[in-house]
Amino acid sequence: MKIIDGRELAKTIKSEIADEVKKYTSTGKRRPHLAAILVGEDPASRVYVRNKTRSCDKVGFDSTLIRKGADIQQDELLEAVEQLNNDSNIDGFIVQLPLPAHLNEKEITLAIDAEKDVDGFHPENFGKMAQGMDTFLPATPFGILTMLDRYNINVSGKNCVVLGRSNIVGTPISILLSRKANPGNATVTLCHSRTQNLVNYTKAADIIVIALGKANFLKKEMIKEGAVVIDVGINRIDAPELEKGYKLVGDADFDDLAEKCSYITPVPGGVGPMTVTSLLMNTLQAYKKNISE
Ligand code: GUN
Repeated sequence: MKIIDGRELAKTIKSEIADEVKKYTSTGKRRPHLAAILVGEDPASRVYVRNKTRSCDKVGFDSTLIRKGADIQQDELLEAVEQLNNDSNIDGFIVQLPLPAHLNEKEITLAIDAEKDVDGFHPENFGKMAQGMDTFLPATPFGILTMLDRYNINVSGKNCVVLGRSNIVGTPISILLSRKANPGNATVTLCHSRTQNLVNYTKAADIIVIALGKANFLKKEMIKEGAVVIDVGINRIDAPELEKGYKLVGDADFDDLAEKCSYITPVPGGVGPMTVTSLLMNTLQAYKKNISE
């Protein structure tokens, strides 16, 4: 079994991004600029957003974090989005999800200028992605494709099983893996909560992408020998033996699967760091377009 080291790969890609940024700034151009809107105090979202802004520093981007209280109303949040849409110093921005339940996430996503939607969540960008047009790919699926590519894992013609059909991960990665592209050209099955006899699918899979949010769900009896396991889950489970009282585990039971699979992404240190890197790559793409206009 080989570990797909997302942390190490993210480091390599970040240094490539930093080199590219230097090429532009050394000729007097401004730095790329990513903004993030964070609503409320959700601890996981705070960590994710902090990772995103810290990573901006590392690659030479400017970053702006806009924090709003959990009680913000829809029109105020729409106004904050509009301000970023109109700010020519911002190349791209994200609204960290999930939003508190009283807010309409779909309306917020639609309000983001598609050219600044570096998350790739706007239906215009999602539609372009589905049709193989040039656009911002959603960060987590983009990170997964980059891992498969850089580790030379052959996807073409393989049976890929995606577990989970979210708009952020499951649905877009199933589209991307089946596209006529590289990496792509896989035969993809998208499984979800209503799938019957799930194990029949996972056992036939050469590549499994799991994004369910269920700690240690995937076990060795469920996969075939030599499968590739891409674990998108980040779950907190109790660990009274640790000082902090919890630990992070994926949707795949790493220790149980380790001997049977050919490649696996660890949690933490697998897909997570690649998601941030993909956001930076999208922001760099937006920046390059802006400075050439
Ligand atoms: N919440 C979980 N993943 C993501 C992501 O990639 N982008 C945003 N904006 N929110 C998220």
